[in-house]
Amino acid sequence: MDGFFTSLLISIALFLLLFSPSVAVDSIAANQVIKDGETIVSAGEMYEMGFFSPANSRNRYLGIWYKKVATGTVVWVANRELPLSNRSGTFKVNSQGRLLISCCGDTVIWSSTSSAFVRYINPVAKLLDTGNFVVKDGNSTDETNFIWQSFDYPGDTLLPGMKLGKDFVTGTNRNLTSWKSPNDPSLGQYVNYVDTNGYPQVFILGQGLLKRIRYGPWNGIRFSGLPNEMPNPIYSVDFVVNQKEVYYKSELKSSTVQMMRLMWDGSMVILRWNNRSGEWIVFANSLLDMCNGYGLCGPYGSCDISKTPSCTCMDGFEPKRPDEWNMAGWSSGCQRKVPLDCDVTEDFWKIKGMKFPDTQKSWYNKSMTLGECEMACRKNCSCTAYANLDIRRGGSGCLLWFGELLDFKVCDESQDLYIRMPASLLKDDGLTISQSGIKMIRVLTITLSILLVLLGLSLAVYVYKKKRRRSHTKGRGRRVHALDKKYSDVEKDDLDLNFISLSKIVKATNNFSIDNKLGEGGFGPVYKGVLESGQEIAVKKLSETSEQGYDEFYNEVVCVARLQHRNLVKLLGYCMDEDERILIYEYLPNKSLDLYLFDETKSSMLEWPLRFDIIRGIAKGILYLHQDSRHRIIHRDLKASNILLDRDMNPKISDFGLAREFGGDQITDKTKKVVGTYGYISPEYAIHGRYSVKSDVFSFGVLVLEMVSGRKNREFSHEDVNDNLLGHDRGKPPPFSHF
Ligand SMILES: *[C@@H]1O[C@H](CO)[C@@H](O)[C@H](O)[C@H]1NC(C)=O
Ligand SMILES: *[C@@H]1O[C@H](CO)[C@@H](O)[C@H](O)[C@H]1NC(C)=O
Ligand SMILES: *[C@@H]1O[C@H](CO)[C@@H](O)[C@H](O)[C@H]1NC(C)=O
Ligand SMILES: *[C@@H]1O[C@H](CO)[C@@H](O)[C@H](O)[C@H]1NC(C)=O
Repeated sequence: MDGFFTSLLISIALFLLLFSPSVAVDSIAANQVIKDGETIVSAGEMYEMGFFSPANSRNRYLGIWYKKVATGTVVWVANRELPLSNRSGTFKVNSQGRLLISCCGDTVIWSSTSSAFVRYINPVAKLLDTGNFVVKDGNSTDETNFIWQSFDYPGDTLLPGMKLGKDFVTGTNRNLTSWKSPNDPSLGQYVNYVDTNGYPQVFILGQGLLKRIRYGPWNGIRFSGLPNEMPNPIYSVDFVVNQKEVYYKSELKSSTVQMMRLMWDGSMVILRWNNRSGEWIVFANSLLDMCNGYGLCGPYGSCDISKTPSCTCMDGFEPKRPDEWNMAGWSSGCQRKVPLDCDVTEDFWKIKGMKFPDTQKSWYNKSMTLGECEMACRKNCSCTAYANLDIRRGGSGCLLWFGELLDFKVCDESQDLYIRMPASLLKDDGLTISQSGIKMIRVLTITLSILLVLLGLSLAVYVYKKKRRRSHTKGRGRRVHALDKKYSDVEKDDLDLNFISLSKIVKATNNFSIDNKLGEGGFGPVYKGVLESGQEIAVKKLSETSEQGYDEFYNEVVCVARLQHRNLVKLLGYCMDEDERILIYEYLPNKSLDLYLFDETKSSMLEWPLRFDIIRGIAKGILYLHQDSRHRIIHRDLKASNILLDRDMNPKISDFGLAREFGGDQITDKTKKVVGTYGYISPEYAIHGRYSVKSDVFSFGVLVLEMVSGRKNREFSHEDVNDNLLGHDRGKPPPFSHF
């Protein structure tokens, strides 16, 4: 009998816990107490605030997380260092506008800092749809003047609209600090902050607060040395430097859900939510390039990731300690071959293709011209280099460097830097030339002339041949020449590729009618269509805003067209019309594997023999990609949503937009930009950017685990390889719960 009552009591308690009413309002009054289990929800239901426990932890933290999309992803934690050990915590905002977390009656265990002991007449706390928890004067109509706001105290996540940097008026200094581990929000060892010595720069500090990574100085559009970060239709980045404040901020321009995060392992990533697959995708990762290591090659040394050894001295410089340098001890750097003596004849050499050096010892003026800048540098003997501050509108402003120049990196940087050099070093576009050099140049000139003649001849032959071919391939499409770019006639004619005109596709899909929409891929919507012949097709329309550029499109067309295997989706044709880029695939009525695997009712259709057949089919497809096809292909984005099922539930691998082609004997490669899907990408790829056939095998392994367990590797987006199905998962409660 006793046992019965106990379980009854437990059931009632559970019932109460699960269904206790949450405060479904976006604002609370001063001193209104919110209990563990109750939450505040922002007006648009974008964010929710309350107590939660990270996966594998019983500790309770007060935090803000995504509600409507990316549900459960925590973006801010109040009591990072002072967790509650049970569920009796409460929180409120007092009449001084301070956020207080209390436990067990009235013991305050954490409180927000507040500048003054002012009593406000009617303070109101509100969770905004930007993810900002603000306290404001309820009688004030000013919507921007806050008594306190969580955006002033960032955790490890920079949400759109949030500022990273300093406010000189209020003295606020906003940094990001990583979590200690994926399940522990306490302060980790990495810090991302804006340094205001000289011209302000963004740094990431590591163990012992040593500088690990430096973003180059802001040039009006982006940070020097990050040429990939170009203006795009999805989000904008801005860096503001003025008398009142210095900050870095991003804003979303579309309805994408995106955030920046300083991960517990020290990498700074941009995470973008993929609504269809329900996962965070990593869009940029600062750790991937060894040359991002701050000052790796010492003063006047430059780092080039594509070279071995990576460090070389700049032209006109030599290793300071040649013995150490040759043993890869680069930190002492390089020195001038001919020292400067502050002579009026000294010259400035123009350098291109380099990340700008550290500006901690620098001076700037936003209105000076390049000419004035040079004059200013010439006048001061300790000035070692100058450049325009802003590259917009042909360049403006002046940046002067003093002392040794540190932290160069070879990259695709178009901005010019002018380095001070002694007049005695003869200069020819940044090269020093000795006597033997001049002899060399003579030989080179002759060789070049011969080469030019040969080039001219082959060009003529090529143009002639191309003209003839044009007449053969007429009507194949306006931009077919793009396919000629890399592939010879023979190879291209192997491709069984049809150009299908846009008008036919419009007709087949009922003008891309919403009724025909099958889903939204990573790169754009997919529609079902029926050609005039009655053939069913799947039409993948690459959205203009998609990350898939022309190269990726080209990649996918050629790559997929050359692959013929029963476990790969067959490409039937393509269409390029002005900005439209469309791929036409065979239509697979059963759609993708994830729709079955992670759906409670449908997953029961996947009997064991069927699951086994699907796994075997995927394996065969991968084997073909890796070994049996004429070109070694690495897919790089294997996951359940990229496995399509035909009428007989045969699996077919799709989505080759990210695939890379390898030469027959090439085994690994390196990339600066990690693409793929979090949870499926292998650690060595995520961290070092190295990918190989093994990366696909890793993803395949994850897929097999998911097939067997029926659970997603990454239910929630806690950022770690251990915190998922791969770590261990037996009998564990759901990874995130705030009930
Ligand atoms: C502030 O607003 C409350 C109700 O919103 C009102 O009762 C009160 O008188 C107001 N106080 C002042 C000083 O305006
Ligand atoms: C994402 O999906 C949810 C539900 O699946 C939907 O309500 C929302 O509108 C979608 N958001 C976008 C930006 O497509
Ligand atoms: C910047 O340069 C302009 C033009 O030379 C000058 O008028 C201005 O005073 C300078 N500003 C500072 C802060 O030095
Ligand atoms: C040169 O610049 C440095 C750093 O700004 C400054 O300390 C020094 O006084 C300047 N020297 C002259 C002669 O202007």
